[in-house]
Amino acid sequence: MSNIEIEEEEYTSQLTMPVLKRILGLLKPYKWWVAGFIVTIALTSALDSLFTYINKQLIDEGLAKGNLDVLYEMATYYGVLQILQAGLVFGFIYLAGVLGERIQYDLRRMMFNHLQELSLSYYSQNAVGRLMARVTSDSGRVADLMTWGLVDTTWAIFNIITATVFMLIINWQLALIVFAAVPLLTFIAVQFRKRILVQFRAARRANSKITGAYNENISGVRVVKALGREDANLAEFQQLTGEMYRASYRAAWLSALFLPTVQVVSAVALGIIVWYGGIQSQYGLFTVGAAHAFVSYVTFMMWPVQDLARVYAEMQHSIASAERIFKLVDTQPDVYDRPDARPVPSLHGVIEFDHVSFTYEDGKPVLTDFSLTVRPGEMLAIVGPTGGGKTTLVNLLCRFYEPTQGVIRIAGHDYTQYTLESIHSRIGVVLQTPHLFSGSIRENIRYGRLEASDAEVEEAARIAGAHDFIVTFEKGYDQEVGEGGSLLSVGQKQLISLARAVLARPEIFIMDEATSSVDTLTEALIQRGMEALMKGRTSFIIAHRLSTIKRADRIIVIENGRIAEMGSHAELLKRRGHYYRLYTQQFKYEREQAYGGAMAQAAV
Ligand SMILES: Nc1ncnc2c1ncn2[C@@H]1O[C@H](COP(=O)(O)OP(=O)(O)O)[C@@H](O)[C@H]1O
Ligand SMILES: [Mg+2]
Repeated sequence: MSNIEIEEEEYTSQLTMPVLKRILGLLKPYKWWVAGFIVTIALTSALDSLFTYINKQLIDEGLAKGNLDVLYEMATYYGVLQILQAGLVFGFIYLAGVLGERIQYDLRRMMFNHLQELSLSYYSQNAVGRLMARVTSDSGRVADLMTWGLVDTTWAIFNIITATVFMLIINWQLALIVFAAVPLLTFIAVQFRKRILVQFRAARRANSKITGAYNENISGVRVVKALGREDANLAEFQQLTGEMYRASYRAAWLSALFLPTVQVVSAVALGIIVWYGGIQSQYGLFTVGAAHAFVSYVTFMMWPVQDLARVYAEMQHSIASAERIFKLVDTQPDVYDRPDARPVPSLHGVIEFDHVSFTYEDGKPVLTDFSLTVRPGEMLAIVGPTGGGKTTLVNLLCRFYEPTQGVIRIAGHDYTQYTLESIHSRIGVVLQTPHLFSGSIRENIRYGRLEASDAEVEEAARIAGAHDFIVTFEKGYDQEVGEGGSLLSVGQKQLISLARAVLARPEIFIMDEATSSVDTLTEALIQRGMEALMKGRTSFIIAHRLSTIKRADRIIVIENGRIAEMGSHAELLKRRGHYYRLYTQQFKYEREQAYGGAMAQAAV
């Protein structure tokens, strides 16, 4: 939470031209739309100025001279032009709205696509929440700049230009006086906007910290109470609310001061106009209509200037958003298809780790000079202490990561020759922390093979041992699992993801402590189904249950990224080494259970 906010705060204080250029580049596919909408806004603001000019004519030529013909003529212009302007206003608001949606859609799709391509290493370094904030809020902000920001800017600029032109036509000396006030107004407006924005952001940051504090206190209420942290937390909380109050107060104060300041400056300009116009009117150079028109133009100009200031202030924010989007889109995935990559014909072959070393970004080697050959159809059990590198090993096999050194070969060919997609689609993985997508159980199982029939889904669920608990739900297979499967237990999620992998009929099957959260009885059930499934498939089973491990063709013990021991259950026990130690310590409980059960049965 606080992370997101902190990054939101990073914003460029200067306009970075390359980024701005790139943002404008996003408009390229819509250049005719943009042209259309700039023209409509330009016409709208030109008409605004023209109305004031018509008023002047109405007063000076019509009313003052009692000329009814001019009056009718002007009234007709007025009516026709008003209708025209209504059409134009509709036009640009519509165009801006559609354009905004298109741009947001483009940006989101661009980011989403890229996020899908990025390697796992990117995700392990970037919080998901922050990524989501990027996809949603940043694209919205950039789209806003390019539509409403553009609307306001175009409108303001054209308003100032057309008003100036008409003022020059009416009286050029006075026009110059008014024009001198514009830079001053702009400067004031920009200064105010910047300061207000800083305070607003400080208030927002404090607000998000307060929300965070609420969350932590509520979700950790037991710990808070148990440790008697109430007073300390209250003090922290008061400090935060104080910060927020002060920032909000300053923002309100500045906002209140802003308009009067602008008004004072324009009042001075108006005063000069009235004074100078008065002198000129004595010589018949300044009419009532002209005076009215000037007052209107000056008032008119106040708004565009403020709009420009606002857009300018917000633009820095949007540019920061754009910079983050571009940074994401520019990130190159670590694992990618080589230019001449081809689909792998089959994964049913010897799999060979040839002197493989691997290091995550932090530089600490996880696997070092690791060599292993696995026969097609072999069931390999991988055991070892936590942090030893078991998950890393299967991550490399799945090519979620690639070896830093050495080669992994499939049927004699370096697996980087093949396309990622073809490898991924032939490997079935069930992870320690299973992930389900929101939707029904059926949809989640079918995720593995979209064209599978309902009967096939059910068969897969039976093999995985999931069928029995699924049918206890009121809606059975149509039961919703909630976001990330939150409505199910971890064990149930494991069984469903197991069924998903079964349905996909992979050529290589990987289970990473996939049944760690199911009870022994269910595990035994799954075991039977899985054995049928693994027949003829190469499988890598990271397990901690003895019953699973014993069935493996071969067991490897991984410690500190190396194979500490390798062999069958019986061989390894005889050796009285690492495996024996694991067996006597880790599996002690399980054996006691089994043994106790047998004793109990014998006693009956
Ligand atoms: N994404 C990652 N980034 C950096 N280090 C990692 C990452 N994943 C695992 N590690 C480190 O690699 C080592 C091996 O981890 P892992 O393969 O998950 O072990 P195991 O599955 O045997 O428990 C550990 O020291 C762990 O801290
Ligand atoms: Mg692991």
